[in-house]
Amino acid sequence: MKTYIEQNKDRFLSELFDLLRIPSVSADPKFKDDVRRCAEAVKDSILKAGADLAEIHETPGHPVVYGEKIIDPALPTVLVYGHYDVQPADPYELWETPPFEPTIRNERIYARGSCDDKGQFYMHIKALETMVATGSLPCNVKVMIEGEEEVGSDHLGEFVRANKEKLKADVILISDTSIIANDTPSIEVGLRGLTYLEVEVTGANRDLHSGVYGGAVANPINVLCEMIASLKDENNHITIPGFYDKVQQLSAEERASINEAPFDLEEYKRDLAINEIEGEAGYTTIERTGIRPTLDVNGIWGGYIGEGAKTVLPSKAYAKISMRLVPDQNNDEILELFTQHFLSIAPASVKVVVKPHHGGLPYVTPVDSVEYRAAELAMKEAWDGKQPVPTRGGGSIPIVALFEQELGLKSILMGFGLDIDALHSPNESYGLFNFYKGIETIPLFFKHYAHLKSHGA
Ligand code: BES
Ligand code: MN
Ligand code: MN
Repeated sequence: MKTYIEQNKDRFLSELFDLLRIPSVSADPKFKDDVRRCAEAVKDSILKAGADLAEIHETPGHPVVYGEKIIDPALPTVLVYGHYDVQPADPYELWETPPFEPTIRNERIYARGSCDDKGQFYMHIKALETMVATGSLPCNVKVMIEGEEEVGSDHLGEFVRANKEKLKADVILISDTSIIANDTPSIEVGLRGLTYLEVEVTGANRDLHSGVYGGAVANPINVLCEMIASLKDENNHITIPGFYDKVQQLSAEERASINEAPFDLEEYKRDLAINEIEGEAGYTTIERTGIRPTLDVNGIWGGYIGEGAKTVLPSKAYAKISMRLVPDQNNDEILELFTQHFLSIAPASVKVVVKPHHGGLPYVTPVDSVEYRAAELAMKEAWDGKQPVPTRGGGSIPIVALFEQELGLKSILMGFGLDIDALHSPNESYGLFNFYKGIETIPLFFKHYAHLKSHGA
């Protein structure tokens, strides 16, 4: 298997480059045709890898690509999930090389989607090709690669509900997360949930002269800033009543074990060019991103932001706000709590509207399962005996909780990215080491999983 990968590694990379050249930005309608072109390319790649079947499923949004190779219906089935859509590449001027012209520098692939998630799901296609070509596929594989993950997977739930029989499997395998470091393998066993919304604050019925009216009429930008500032106290606790009610408190032992994962604070600060970190009092950085919920403004705007100065008292102010959630918080309940609270703190001088966007539930992978054990063994083997560490990730893949609800399946988050990959940022990259390590590790997961399953574990 290793020989096959070695002999084909340049082709694997150049095929990934072809995929990275397609600007499959799901958020921007301008790229709609590119997104579809990318779906076609993914479908072709699944067929070329040796699948029996690959098809494009239309949705009211971007298409879902599905493929399968069934070698024996009596054997277990692994369902691979990934996403071929990417985040917008803006601002383009901050990229050292253009986002959709993949380039290798310092042993890394620079391109939008190189890690999130094209580089990662493509490892599965190449792993499938490798297993088929070397006659070592030990169980059935189904592949579902969607085109709307970066915009909230709005239509995937419907697809899953309508195709339960087709998607029947024993476990879901996903590479869309990170490891601690290239010499410290790890497996994410938690994803945070998400409530994403937008607020609109309106003052007067039109923009006003800031001299004639300033000081006498509410400025919605000032008001919005005060309202947002009040959402956290001096300890960085979120002040929304009931916000923490359902947050699972971990035991002292669980917290100690989470904090055993290697973490270098100085390196973390250096990488981000910050002098000090900030966060909820009483928790470490690992806990703040792994087991605690957050509230962040993702964007804020209003008034005059053009060249020079315009003396204006704006009529409207806006902000996009996200809350990352942990077990057992529920995104709909948090939306409700936020909305009630935000409306209640609005002064009578303004009108406030809260517009929900997308959301999703948090997820935790049990570590006492055959599938987790298989992932652990696979990584251990690929890393020459080094035991992978379980970690709680800070990101969200909202559809994972839905897979559990609708298909009754657990997901294994066997990702190979690194924090330095700059997901969603300019100059996103993915290490060549990580790309090839993934292609090597995935067949090992299949091997161990099929073996453990067949031994009645
Ligand atoms: N792959 C990421 C999530 C991720 C990144 C998990 C790193 C763990 C480590 C995924 O593509 C993503 O960006 N998800 C979004 C949520 C979505 C609803 C837009 C996120 O976390 O912001
Ligand atoms: Mn992703
Ligand atoms: Mn992403």
